[in-house]
Amino acid sequence: MLPPFPALAPPVTAEREIALRGGDTTEGVVRAGGTVRRPVGRATPAVHALLRHLAAAGFEGAPRVVGFDERGREVLTYIEGEAPARPLPPYAVTAGSLAALARLLRRFHDASEAFPLTRYAEWEPGSNDDRPPEVIGHCDISPGNVVFRGGLPYALIDFDLARPTTRLFDVVTTLRHWAPIADPLDRDPLQRELDGAEVGARLRLFCDEYGVPPRDRRRLLDLARLRFGRSYTATRRRAETAGGGWARRWAFGAGERIRRARAWLDTHEDELHASLM
Ligand SMILES: Nc1ncnc2c1ncn2[C@@H]1O[C@H](COP(=O)(O)OP(=O)(O)O)[C@@H](O)[C@H]1O
Ligand SMILES: [Mg+2]
Repeated sequence: MLPPFPALAPPVTAEREIALRGGDTTEGVVRAGGTVRRPVGRATPAVHALLRHLAAAGFEGAPRVVGFDERGREVLTYIEGEAPARPLPPYAVTAGSLAALARLLRRFHDASEAFPLTRYAEWEPGSNDDRPPEVIGHCDISPGNVVFRGGLPYALIDFDLARPTTRLFDVVTTLRHWAPIADPLDRDPLQRELDGAEVGARLRLFCDEYGVPPRDRRRLLDLARLRFGRSYTATRRRAETAGGGWARRWAFGAGERIRRARAWLDTHEDELHASLM
């Protein structure tokens, strides 16, 4: 009789799932081989149409849609690189990164502009500009939603909050995180010491690299203030209705951070405005 085969270790396949916890908002985001699996929402068809549009337009800085898996999750391509987590690494806060991010956002808007604004009604609701929408914005360009390669922003991920908006509103949301427009208490250690003039210079650099026209620069800080008020209300509502990561964020002081950021903006408004013009 032949000796029994030694027990084989379970095969390590590309389908083995690794939890991706960077964002801490959506539960159950995993990597499986070259793909990411994420839970779906009512905006998923609209987001997939946008991602397909971006791919067709030749925009490389976003995941591609693969489809849905047997568990009903969306399947997107995994983009190699690093999405910075807190505390931010030095490469994430350089002037070069900020400039490259501004150019990436500009290319994204230019590619998204031809996407029909009214084709889908089901986008995730959120705070917005009063002006008529111009593009489908990302609306959530935080460090955890930007994949870096070689120390520079390469791609945007996590389009869950994408919705019709103005270019300037998406610029303001991005600057909230990246200039940052925040109270020093709430900033990453590497950005804690930035004073009003230094944050102002970063706002200016971003606007120069994006190509924000003068009329929008004049409106930028007003829109930032409007956004703080609206995103306070929207975040609280989401915490109440969606629970999960949103409720956790609220419980851990998301509302107070918005109030402190608004107060910091008010204190430094004149200095910031002068830098922008
Ligand atoms: N397509 C992707 N390519 C590379 N990394 C990804 C991708 N999708 C998600 N990740 C990683 O997983 C983390 C969380 O995913 P994300 O889609 O941002 O979910 P959340 O809603 O929790 O923010 C990201 O910060 C990033 O590190
Ligand atoms: Mg995210």
